[in-house]
Amino acid sequence: MVVSLKGVPVWVSVLVLVLVLALGRSDPVEDHEDVLVELELDTDEDLDLPFYDSFDYDDMDQEIDAPEETVVMPKETPQSNASPDSTSLDLDLFGPDTGLGMPTCLLCTCLGGSVYCDDSDLEDVPPLPKDTTHFYARFNKIEHIKNTTFMNLNMLQSIDLTGNDISEIDEAAFRLLPLLQQLVLADNDVKMLPQLPTTMRLIDLRNNRLKSSAMHPGFQDMSGLEYLYLSDNDLDYVPTPLPLGLRVLHLQNNNIQSLLVDTFCDSHDPTFIRPKLEDIRLDGNPLNTHLFGAAYSCLPRLPVGTH
Ligand SMILES: *[C@@H]1O[C@H](CO)[C@@H](O)[C@H](O)[C@H]1NC(C)=O
Repeated sequence: MVVSLKGVPVWVSVLVLVLVLALGRSDPVEDHEDVLVELELDTDEDLDLPFYDSFDYDDMDQEIDAPEETVVMPKETPQSNASPDSTSLDLDLFGPDTGLGMPTCLLCTCLGGSVYCDDSDLEDVPPLPKDTTHFYARFNKIEHIKNTTFMNLNMLQSIDLTGNDISEIDEAAFRLLPLLQQLVLADNDVKMLPQLPTTMRLIDLRNNRLKSSAMHPGFQDMSGLEYLYLSDNDLDYVPTPLPLGLRVLHLQNNNIQSLLVDTFCDSHDPTFIRPKLEDIRLDGNPLNTHLFGAAYSCLPRLPVGTH
């Protein structure tokens, strides 16, 4: 009895030691669990979006069912939260299914809100995660931007599709994106430019086949537009009216023959100035140059590259 009474503190201290060791080891495991649980929740959110309904991939229903089961099942023991099955993990880490036997973020690289799909032999834009902010798919074989291509991607700020074979852009392909600021479609075969959102800051369509008669982007309503690159196209006119905040306008190597006083300035208002426009390029156009002085009279700085 005496021995066992004295032994109690020993047992307690051993117990405490074991507990401390056990807790020390389980900390990283718990962190890991948290990560896994978070990922699982994200998957759930993503899959609820109506965005996915617009794609008719045959296996979509199966994929959606799987993670819902795994979220419900583990509730019996807290431990089993740590082991969601691989389907829900894959779906979440690698983004939506492309229907090409590989989810988007295995085909491409997803980092934060950015999705990089450069040089991937893509013929279509893959379905993007709902929270995509920046999308890069340079040097692929994309031909057609459809109404549905970027549908419901309401976080999208920047799209770069340089060096594809884009010849067709549907009427509503871009104009419903509420945060779009940068659109880079350089080195494609774009003939017709549809309406773009008024939130645009940079538009780069250099080296395409744009004709003035097929340009309907609505530049005049883009109060934040600063950079407009339209060199190496088939434009007959400077696309006026240009927004007041415009800083850079590249129109070299087009088919522009005339420049009017009202192209940049206001023939009825000699006090009108464009304080921001400082880089205009019109070289490589069959321009009648005698108007140049008057055409630039409202620009406080001599524009560069007007030779
Ligand atoms: C795209 O949407 C616009 C407007 O909603 C519609 O007029 C046009 O026909 C659509 N184009 C295609 C190819 O679905």
